[in-house]
Amino acid sequence: MTTVIDGKAVAADVVAKVRVAAEQLIAKTGVVPGIAVVIVGHDPASQVYVASKGKKAKECGFHSIEHALSSDTSESDLVALVEKLNADPAIHGILVQLPLPNHIDAGKIIQTIAADKDVDGFHFTNVGKLGTGELDTAFVPCTPAGSMLLIERALGRDLSGLNAVVVGRSNIVGKPMANLLLNANATVTVAHSRTKDLPALCRSADILVAAVGRPEMIKGDWVKPGATVIDVGINRLDGGANGKSKLVGDVDYASAAEQAGAITPVPGGVGPMTIALLMANTVVSAFRAAG
Ligand code: GUN
Repeated sequence: MTTVIDGKAVAADVVAKVRVAAEQLIAKTGVVPGIAVVIVGHDPASQVYVASKGKKAKECGFHSIEHALSSDTSESDLVALVEKLNADPAIHGILVQLPLPNHIDAGKIIQTIAADKDVDGFHFTNVGKLGTGELDTAFVPCTPAGSMLLIERALGRDLSGLNAVVVGRSNIVGKPMANLLLNANATVTVAHSRTKDLPALCRSADILVAAVGRPEMIKGDWVKPGATVIDVGINRLDGGANGKSKLVGDVDYASAAEQAGAITPVPGGVGPMTIALLMANTVVSAFRAAG
């Protein structure tokens, strides 16, 4: 029997714990966890994400502010805003929504965020800490951290001796995901668009993580029987029922679910975990700031 991994339920669990932790911090120290989300321009998908981050922050009892800037905001104005947030003691987490408009160097903005407020885990300091296994003081990127929680819950065992294949090598998901799995003693391979015989490689995976942004690319006959399949993809396909668009992952769910031991659906798998882990990183940051 295939287990459908309920990311919504696990995320709700994480959020409930974050809320309790925030209440305890406030009661003990008076410090209210604070998060600032910055969005530049009008990308509709980004606007939806940012709105749901603000809503979840309020649910956790956080102080939450949003800066919505016009698409012609200059790089230097954005740097100045990030520096202001770095210096604001009421803010413990700063998230600049990506992608940014082309005239702004996203790398420069990310490196301007203070490493100890970088709840996205994209700053070199946090990337380096994850790479060297210093997870106690790192901020780990939210999507891979959330995926890892789902893997641990699904397997309920140490990952020693298991083969993990991560399809996709992005800085936001693929690379940090590989580091987390390696840190948990899995044997890890990172596949990408130049990988030879991807189906055969995927068939060797006890844990298969798909993060490529290609709708339904990974087919059921690429999945080892009993494998744990984590689908990070969120792709909007036009022309679903009633002409509405339909969300699908990077995995062909129907055929993969016939092979997998456990699999995340889209939506309702990894998606809700990302925001939950953002809240978790923010409350951790507030605890660190409070001493
Ligand atoms: N855009 C898509 N995913 C993310 C994310 O995890 N963090 C930020 N800042 N922007 C994103």
